[in-house]
Amino acid sequence: MPFDINTTDTEVLSSFGKEAQGKTLLITGPSTAGIGSKVAVSLATAGPKLLILAGRNKSKITPVIGGINRANPGVQVKFVQLDLLSQKSVHDAVTQVKEATDHIDILINNAGVMAPRKFLLSQDGVESQFAANYLSHFLLTNLLLKSGLIRAGDLILNIGSLGYQMSDIQYDNINYSNGESYNGWKAYGQAKSAQLLGTRGLANRLKGKGIAVLVAHPGVTLESSLLANSAIDQEYFGEAYLLAIERNDGQPLPPQNMVSIEQAAGVVLYTALNPELRSKPAAFIVENGIYALTKDYAINDADADKLWELSESLVGERFEF
Ligand SMILES: NC(=O)c1ccc[n+]([C@@H]2O[C@H](COP(=O)([O-])OP(=O)(O)OC[C@H]3O[C@@H](n4cnc5c(N)ncnc54)[C@H](OP(=O)(O)O)[C@@H]3O)[C@@H](O)[C@H]2O)c1
Repeated sequence: MPFDINTTDTEVLSSFGKEAQGKTLLITGPSTAGIGSKVAVSLATAGPKLLILAGRNKSKITPVIGGINRANPGVQVKFVQLDLLSQKSVHDAVTQVKEATDHIDILINNAGVMAPRKFLLSQDGVESQFAANYLSHFLLTNLLLKSGLIRAGDLILNIGSLGYQMSDIQYDNINYSNGESYNGWKAYGQAKSAQLLGTRGLANRLKGKGIAVLVAHPGVTLESSLLANSAIDQEYFGEAYLLAIERNDGQPLPPQNMVSIEQAAGVVLYTALNPELRSKPAAFIVENGIYALTKDYAINDADADKLWELSESLVGERFEF
């Protein structure tokens, strides 16, 4: 069957559902209405052993646990408290995960926030989008690797975005002069560029260890809570469009086709479960194919190393594998 922008979650599962059978998956940010919750409830029908749902707001995740129980009462589900704006919370979450399992087959770093207008720092003094979308997932992933919960045969999947095109990384000023030069869209672009480069940096470090590292753009959907969570209206959305054109040398961008939440979840499931992708280090999956047009600043090895060192210094820990 062809896999493309129109492929839905259930179609992916009819081809690759067996890859999830008996597996343990951890998904960050699976609040009701989001792409992560759609992925979790769909996955349940494929018969995984354990789904770990990690998020900051239990009341938004309880209905998702209900959905999983209804879809397949045989699947174990564990909620883990995780606020990506706090590195202490990430450490505590890893402790909770270790109490629930000694192995994660597939980690899906899905949680994210897009372009809040107001500059905000995490509890550790890091710009909030960089912290939530990228840095705390860097910490979570490395702590899980270090403690042996993720090992040969497993997959780490980051949910990125073509929105990375709105900015490269301001290595010497990720906090925009403490917010003085903050622009919500540029900060989203910076965070999503960091996810792409971070995927590359991790894949380079795990070379030869049999652990796959991939990144996917789920497609643009208006059916999740991403826009509402940051109160994004049409006018503010227009600013993103203009910024992207400016960064494209003033040339109009190819039209973005919207997808349904089932199709967005389909990309995540396709990337997570298609065994052929496991041998493609740091591949960026867009519309269920490997994207070949990523700009150099988001994939080159030298910048990936630079970001890795910056990230280690921001989390106060070195990771070597
Ligand atoms: N929707 C799109 O068009 C689109 C396009 C490209 C990429 N993406 C990416 O897809 C992923 C999922 O987005 P979505 O569209 O499903 O958005 P969503 O409905 O807003 O879901 C985002 C999830 O991230 C969680 N989150 C945000 N900040 C957090 C924090 N500090 N700590 C813990 N969890 C936090 C949210 O929790 P709360 O519910 O508690 O806020 C929610 O569970 C994101 O990484 C996004 O960048 C989406």
